[in-house]
Amino acid sequence: MRFLIPFLFAALASTAAFVSAHTADQQQQQQVKRATTCNGHAELCGKGFGNVTFLGTHNSYAVGKEVADNQGWNVTEQLNDGIRLLQVQTHLLNREINLCHSSCSLQSSGPLSNYLSTLSTWLAANPTEIVTLLITNPESIPPSTFGQDFVAAGLDKLAYSPASTATSRDEWPTLGAMIDQGKRLVVFMDYNADFGAVPYIIDEFSNVFEDAYDTTSQDFPCTVNRTSGSPETTLMLTNHYLDYTTTIFGLQVFLSDKSNLTTTNSASGYGSIGQGVANCVDQWKRNPNFVLVDWYDSNGNTPFDLVASLNGVAAPTNTVKTSELTSGTSSSSSSSSAASRTGSKAATSGTTKATGTTTASAGNVSSSSLSAAPASLRIPAIGTLVVTLLGTALGVAWVAM
Ligand SMILES: *[C@@H]1O[C@H](CO)[C@@H](O)[C@H](O)[C@H]1NC(C)=O
Ligand SMILES: *[C@@H]1O[C@H](CO)[C@@H](O)[C@H](O)[C@H]1NC(C)=O
Ligand SMILES: *[C@@H]1O[C@H](CO)[C@@H](O)[C@H](O)[C@H]1NC(C)=O
Ligand SMILES: *[C@@H]1O[C@H](CO)[C@@H](O)[C@H](O)[C@H]1NC(C)=O
Ligand SMILES: *[C@@H]1O[C@H](CO)[C@@H](O)[C@H](O)[C@H]1NC(C)=O
Repeated sequence: MRFLIPFLFAALASTAAFVSAHTADQQQQQQVKRATTCNGHAELCGKGFGNVTFLGTHNSYAVGKEVADNQGWNVTEQLNDGIRLLQVQTHLLNREINLCHSSCSLQSSGPLSNYLSTLSTWLAANPTEIVTLLITNPESIPPSTFGQDFVAAGLDKLAYSPASTATSRDEWPTLGAMIDQGKRLVVFMDYNADFGAVPYIIDEFSNVFEDAYDTTSQDFPCTVNRTSGSPETTLMLTNHYLDYTTTIFGLQVFLSDKSNLTTTNSASGYGSIGQGVANCVDQWKRNPNFVLVDWYDSNGNTPFDLVASLNGVAAPTNTVKTSELTSGTSSSSSSSSAASRTGSKAATSGTTKATGTTTASAGNVSSSSLSAAPASLRIPAIGTLVVTLLGTALGVAWVAM
């Protein structure tokens, strides 16, 4: 026994040493893997996804200067400039999901699959960035159809699947944890999400509330407009873009108010992003999670600086340049603008299908009817009807020529 005891001690000690060395090794490995920069800032790694503010582009794919466009730079440039929420509107065209504004005969930016592959390329090149994609699904296309495009782009593996259909604001993982797990894409869908079929296409309104959209008032009060959860516990999206309204065929439609743009995207004063966000903070006692804008580049770094200050991080060091598509006034559909528009679409989506819009522009169908076309994102049902009628009318007019 006497001899055995020291032997046992020695054995125990060496086992303990082995275990502790092994544990230290594992910890070190975990530390090596752990993200130290999250969306550009170390401070954001420990913050919950629900505690961070992201700047987003309304109709991110609709790049050009026609009346139904909303952005001046393509999605790669948007992401490089710091946009972290991309909103898209989807429609079926030739049995394929396409990105179109209101109607594919009015505005068309090609298949979703091309867009997702651009997004996938960017995410692969930027491994410490988290991006949110907000899908507007006015035709109630089944999520499983979307799923095919996500799989083809390799984005199903990168997309975050929550534990249940509704995640409260404080339950979201930290940005650091999401990056460590390689779940760097959050996908919301406004209507017709199906958690059972595609768990990473998350029902928007169980998880996010929105204030009014297509607003023509510069008040931007940030009151709740759409939600199916409680605004107290869901994420907050504020639509900070201004429309004006006009009448076509006796029906009211909404268009992007470019004339007020530099006010809408400014830091302070009536109608500004600064004021809109302050209205959100006053009312909800917290920062919005998503600030959705048109022509995000109109005021240089201003919106990005504002979001950085909400997040308590240093202002970005890159310089956002204003696209000529943004600074120019709305096109009157001259052939040169039609050409530059087609060029920018091709650059964005890879392929540009010949659509009613392009042919209508090239065919010189009355520019007044084109500029009267709706430019809003989620126009009410009546607006969709107008667009459809208008699209049909343009098609007929072109065929008649
Ligand atoms: C998120 O913010 C809430 C409220 O300020 C805070 O209680 C919580 O600790 C934060 N969580 C994370 C992970 O940032
Ligand atoms: C929501 O916004 C739409 C469009 O701005 C408006 O027509 C509607 O009345 C609003 N609904 C609520 C409940 O505020
Ligand atoms: C800006 O918006 C206001 C309404 O909020 C409108 O009266 C005005 O015509 C718009 N355009 C310009 C250039 O001010
Ligand atoms: C996007 O736009 C940038 C800047 O205008 C351009 O250099 C780039 O080629 C475009 N990228 C794609 C994928 O179209
Ligand atoms: C296009 O519009 C211009 C000016 O309105 C007109 O002179 C021209 O004939 C039109 N071209 C076609 C192809 O209709």
